[in-house]
Amino acid sequence: MGAKWVLLGVLFLAFALAGDADDASVKPTVVKVVKGKKLCGKGWECKGPSEFCCNQTISDYFQTYQFENLFSKRNSPVAHATGFWDYHSFITAAAEYQPKGFGTTGGKLTGMKEVAAFLGHVGSKTSCGYGVATGGPLAWGLCYNKEMSPSSDYCDEYFKYTYPCTPGVSYFGRGAIPMYWNYNYGKTGEALKVNLLDHPEYIEQNATLAFQAAIWKWMTPAEKNLPSAHEVFVGTWKPKANDTLAKRVPGFGTTMNVLYGDDVCGKGEDEHMTNMVSHYLYYLDLMGVGREEAGPHEVLSCAEQEAFKPTSSSSS
Ligand SMILES: *[C@@H]1O[C@H](CO)[C@@H](O)[C@H](O)[C@H]1NC(C)=O
Ligand SMILES: *[C@@H]1O[C@H](CO)[C@@H](O)[C@H](O)[C@H]1NC(C)=O
Ligand SMILES: *[C@@H]1O[C@H](CO)[C@@H](O)[C@H](O)[C@H]1NC(C)=O
Repeated sequence: MGAKWVLLGVLFLAFALAGDADDASVKPTVVKVVKGKKLCGKGWECKGPSEFCCNQTISDYFQTYQFENLFSKRNSPVAHATGFWDYHSFITAAAEYQPKGFGTTGGKLTGMKEVAAFLGHVGSKTSCGYGVATGGPLAWGLCYNKEMSPSSDYCDEYFKYTYPCTPGVSYFGRGAIPMYWNYNYGKTGEALKVNLLDHPEYIEQNATLAFQAAIWKWMTPAEKNLPSAHEVFVGTWKPKANDTLAKRVPGFGTTMNVLYGDDVCGKGEDEHMTNMVSHYLYYLDLMGVGREEAGPHEVLSCAEQEAFKPTSSSSS
């Protein structure tokens, strides 16, 4: 009698595991062929038709256990967003951008490096790790999903006609690459078709949306004539003479220039900059790529780079 139940239990477990494995390996299907080019879709993981969905996609080389390794402390009792972030939200959010090349450009190695680079930014910005934290300071990415004690409501009146602040609402830092200020919530909300100007809190309530906003920022140039972090990382951006003079080269260093400019770049071994680099290298190791794939210091760092858009004079 007992044995029967054990057997049933084992069978049930086997089905549950099979279900899990299926989840992470949707096969690409060719949706159509345009001018000899295959365009694919890959279910909920890569929303085609797109040639990028025909290649390996993120869930082929980056799976739940790897996400758990990278962000191993995020659900610990002392973390500040326990239970919020998960793998499924990341893949769901990425499904909108993999057809545009996020994690799917140039083959598996470039894809893995891009995911490590993006998550390196995320981990560094959301870490509550410090020197003596258990597991080391790099194990604490995704500890936060919002700024804990905002000192401002980040309402810039200059944008009162384009992105007016909603009374009673505060635009403090929220998300995977934290978003601040009414104009950033306004612009991102327009792009994602979500009313973030009235409801910035959606970002701290919905991990898929939080990842989506961060990947959108990674994939989108801040202005015409400027590259996106994605383009400078995968090398579809080619430096011009002025870039070479300013020491901007394709690679991780320049992604920090795109996203943070002279807040972190051109300042020598700035602490925020080196922290992002450390997260990136740590994730490359954990993903099995290895930090030796990251390239030399001048590609990794932006210590000597001039900003794409220098902030006039020295503001804080
Ligand atoms: C697909 O992967 C191959 C190598 O595996 C790569 O050469 C090609 O550029 C990739 N396609 C796209 C659209 O990035
Ligand atoms: C969370 O955000 C995603 C992406 O914008 C959306 O599809 C989903 O419906 C949201 N979930 C909830 C519970 O609002
Ligand atoms: C560099 O020069 C190109 C034209 O060659 C221009 O389009 C671009 O905006 C310049 N970049 C910067 C950061 O000044």
